[in-house]
Amino acid sequence: MAVSAPIRNRVLKLRAALHEHNYRYHVLDDPVISDAEYDRMFGELQDLEARYPEFISADSPTLRAGAPPLKQFAPVNHKVAMLSLSNAFDESDVLAFDRRIRERAEIEEVEYVAEPKLDGLAVSLLYERGVLVVGATRGDGETGEDVTMNIKTIKSVPLRLRGKNIPEILEVRGEVFLTHAGFRKLNEDQRSKAGKLFVNPRNAAAGSLRQLDSRLTAQRPLEIFFYGVGRVAGKIPVTHRALLKAFKTWGLRVSPLAELVVGAEGCIEYYERIAKIRCRLSYDIDGVVYKVSDMSLQSKLGNISRAPRWALAHKFPAQEESTVVQGIEVQVGRTGAVTPVARLRPVFVGGVTVSNATLHNRREIERLDIRVGDTVMVRRAGDVIPEVVSVTTGKRPPHTRRFKFPDACPVCGSEIVYEGEGIVARCSGGLYCSAQRKESIKHFASRRAMDIDGLGDKIVEQLVDKNLVQDAADLYSLTVEQLVGLERLAGKSAQNLVESLQRSKTTKLERFLHALGIGQVGETTAQQLAAHFGSLQAIIAAPVDDLVKVPDIGPVVAASIHTFFNQPHNAAVIQKLRQAGVTWPEHSTAPEDRGLPLSGKIFVLTGALSSMTRDEASRRLRDLGAKVAGSVSGKTDFVVAGSDPGSKVAKADRLGVAIVGESEFLDMIAL
Ligand code: IVH
Repeated sequence: MAVSAPIRNRVLKLRAALHEHNYRYHVLDDPVISDAEYDRMFGELQDLEARYPEFISADSPTLRAGAPPLKQFAPVNHKVAMLSLSNAFDESDVLAFDRRIRERAEIEEVEYVAEPKLDGLAVSLLYERGVLVVGATRGDGETGEDVTMNIKTIKSVPLRLRGKNIPEILEVRGEVFLTHAGFRKLNEDQRSKAGKLFVNPRNAAAGSLRQLDSRLTAQRPLEIFFYGVGRVAGKIPVTHRALLKAFKTWGLRVSPLAELVVGAEGCIEYYERIAKIRCRLSYDIDGVVYKVSDMSLQSKLGNISRAPRWALAHKFPAQEESTVVQGIEVQVGRTGAVTPVARLRPVFVGGVTVSNATLHNRREIERLDIRVGDTVMVRRAGDVIPEVVSVTTGKRPPHTRRFKFPDACPVCGSEIVYEGEGIVARCSGGLYCSAQRKESIKHFASRRAMDIDGLGDKIVEQLVDKNLVQDAADLYSLTVEQLVGLERLAGKSAQNLVESLQRSKTTKLERFLHALGIGQVGETTAQQLAAHFGSLQAIIAAPVDDLVKVPDIGPVVAASIHTFFNQPHNAAVIQKLRQAGVTWPEHSTAPEDRGLPLSGKIFVLTGALSSMTRDEASRRLRDLGAKVAGSVSGKTDFVVAGSDPGSKVAKADRLGVAIVGESEFLDMIAL
C-alpha cells in the first residue's frame, strides 16, 4: 500500500539507529544519545510494530536485548537468556501491568518484590557446587563476555558460597556498579595520571569490568547487588522474596531496599518513597523494579520477546539528556565570582525544563572544551544545579571556536583576578560593578533574608541600571512615583511594593545579618550569631576570639565577619538602614534556656536516619536546648552518624568527638 511507505521508512530508520546506538552503548561504552532518547525511539518502534504488524521483522532491536560482544573476551553462552525489562513511565503503566497479571493468573491480589533499579551493568555468575566458576557480562542477552577474572576482583563477590541448601548448579544475576564516592575517586586517579575521565558511574563501572587486565579492575571500587537467578540444578525457594533471603544466607549481597509490596498501590507507594530518598543514596538508581514474588506464577506468565511478563521497571524522570549549546556567557555573582554558564536549547531533564547549565570555572571549560553549537549531555540530579557532563564531539558542527575566558569583567570592565590555584575567577570591581550591586540587592530582598515581597530580579536590575538605588538602604527611600516608571510595575504593584518595603523594616536580627551578605555567613551562621550575641552591637564589637566561640564559626569565617563590620562603607550602609527604620527585637544576652536537657550541647548530623529526616532531628535537638552545627570542630559534643555518613565521622574520630549511632541518638532525644 502506498500510504504505508513513509511508515516503513520510519521503521527502517528507527531500527538502523537503534542498532547503532545499541552497539555504541553496549559494546563501546560510548553512547552518543541519552538513555531517555533511546527509550523514546524504542517506544516509537514498538508502537509502530504493534500497529503495523506487517513491518515486524526477525532482526528488529525490539526482539533482542542488546548488541554482540567485543571479540577480546571469550564468549559465554547464556543457557537461560538474560532478559531485559519492560518500562513504565507513569502510574497508568503500573496499573495496566498489575491488571494484566491479575487477569492472566485469575487472582485478586498480587504480591510483588519491589527493588531499586540499579544503574550499573548486569552480570551472570555461575556457581558449581558452591564455587564460582564463570562470571559473564550480559552482552546481547544470549551471548556475553567471560570476565571471570575481573568479577573475582570484586570484593563483595563470594568466591565460594556459604551456608546450607546450595543448589548443585546455581547461576545468579546481579548488577555491578560504582558508588558516587568510588566514581569520584576513580576520576581523581584518572585525572592525576592524565587518563580518560568517565562521564558517569555506570560508564565507569562498565569500563572497569571490561578491562582486559584484571589487575586494573582490582583497583576499581566495584560493587554488586544480586537480584535473580539463571540456570539452576537443585532446589531453590518458591518465591522471589525467599530467594533473596536465601541469597543473603549464601553470602550474596542483596539490596537492603528490596521489600514485599502488595498490588499496584503497594508498588506506587514504594516508587514514591524511593524517589524521595534517591538523592541521598550513595549510588545511582534510575527507577524501581517490581517482580511477581511467586515463582510458579512467574513461569506461568512467561516472557514476551525481550522481557518477562512478571516484571516491570518503573523509571524515574531521566537525569541526563542531550541538547545543544546556543551560547556561552559569564555571570558575575554577588561576591564577584565570575561563573561561565551554557545557554541551552531547553530540554526536559530530572523533572524540569533546563535552559542554562553551570560550567563551574575556567578549568571545567578547558576539560570539556565546550563550544557554541556543540551537542552536550546535561545532568540534573535532585535539587542540584544542572551541569554539563560531556560534549558529544562526534556531533560537533564545522567551524566552531574554542571559548576564551575573558580577562575583564563583562559588566564593569574591571580586571578579573584568579584565586584558588587560578581556577576561581573574580571581578575586582567590588560595589563599583553593577552586577555585584544587583546581586547583593537581590539577595538582601530575598525570601529568607528581608523577604521584600514584589521586588523581583527584573525590578532590581532596572533600579540599579537607572541609578535609583546604589545600595540596599536606598530601597527604603523609593517612592511610588519613581516605581511606576519601571517596566512590569503598574500603579497598584508599585503601591504594593512600597508597602512591602515598609513591612520588611520590622525584621529579626538573624534575617538582617543574612541579608547583609557577609562573606561565608549563610542563614545558619546568621542564626547562630544572633542567638549567641543577641544584638548587632555585640556582634560588631566582638573580637575574632569571641566570634570563634560560636558553633560552626572557625577562624576564616570569624575573620570575614570582623573585616566586614570594619569596612567604613558597610558601616555606612548599616547606619543608613537603621535610620530608614529597619529594626528588630534585641536581647541583651543570648536567649539560651539552661534548664533544658541538652542545653549547651553542640551536635552535628551526618548520613541518613531511618526514623526521621535530618530537619526533624535538628528541630527535636533544638527543642531540647542543643545547638546543631553543620561541620565538626573541637567544639562539637556529638556527631550523630546515620547510614552512609560522610567524612564528618572520620573528622570526629580524629578530633576525639563522641560519635553516636541512630539508636543511641534516639535514646538521647527521648530523655
Ligand atoms: S531484573 C528478567 N532487577 O535492568 C529480569 N534488573 O532493563 C531481568 N537492573 O539488564 C532483570 N536493577 O541490568 C533486575 N533490581 C533489578 C535491577 C535490574 C538493575 C538492570 C539489569 C537489566 C536491566 C533491564
